[in-house]
Amino acid sequence: MTASPPESAPIRTIPALRRSKVRHGEPPLVMVTAYDAPTARFAVDAGVDLILVGDSVGTTLLGYDSTVPVTIDDILHHTKAVRRGAPDAHIIADLPFMTYQVSDEQAVANAGRLLKDGGADAVKLEGGTALAIRIAAIARAGIPVVGHIGLTPQTAGLLGGFKVQGQEFASARALIDDAIAIEDAGAYMLVVEVVPSALTALITGRVSIPVIGIGAGPGCDGQVLVIHDLLGIEDRHAARFVKRYATLATEMREGIAAFASDVRSGEYPAPEHTYKLKSSVLAELRDSLGTEPS
Ligand code: KIV
Repeated sequence: MTASPPESAPIRTIPALRRSKVRHGEPPLVMVTAYDAPTARFAVDAGVDLILVGDSVGTTLLGYDSTVPVTIDDILHHTKAVRRGAPDAHIIADLPFMTYQVSDEQAVANAGRLLKDGGADAVKLEGGTALAIRIAAIARAGIPVVGHIGLTPQTAGLLGGFKVQGQEFASARALIDDAIAIEDAGAYMLVVEVVPSALTALITGRVSIPVIGIGAGPGCDGQVLVIHDLLGIEDRHAARFVKRYATLATEMREGIAAFASDVRSGEYPAPEHTYKLKSSVLAELRDSLGTEPS
């Protein structure tokens, strides 16, 4: 926890990112989620390569039980904030559930909004081979697109809940085929979530686009964590793969409790937190008010 940020992170172009494979000697890419301007600014200051405006905003910030209720307007709102906080960052915005599944036209229109109105550089969508046609449509429209396979939270119910994916031959083989289909469809990057490390390594070896893992072990071209997990803003539960680098929930509770205590004891606000009124103005005001009400 003594790591200091680099002086300046390189600007990441889509062609450079597309080639960013560890096996070609590139360092692993670092991605975090952010949903607001200050967090985006801190992420850039800390030297991350990529910021994801994830639909995890639904569970981290908006109080939903899942990502399913998140809307395109939610993601637009948060993407705009992240762009204001990080004007030069490479920002990927999630397409929420049911904003791309219905048709190519729907997928392209919503992806376009995230770039044109939100200021994102790229979009991400969940799904394997069956969704490759949507990736192809979005890519054909000139919109950089990231795939997401393995544990796909928008359809976690279909997968039997938040479970490790690809543990049997058929499902593991299907994930490798999904990754290849997504690359062939034109994605420039792929997120792989909660699969066994050895399977991730096979997937990473089979595609030429970078694979960013979350709960997928070290055999990838980068790692992503949800910012509330890594900073310990969410402290109720953590998946096995989460490593906490801070415990901000504790500091937040303690800070709010200290404020409440100071207000109740009269210690806050102290003279240094207040603004003075000229004595002549005060005297004039008192005169103008006459006798003060009791
Ligand atoms: O929404 C999100 O935060 C994500 C990450 C878990 C990859 O998709």
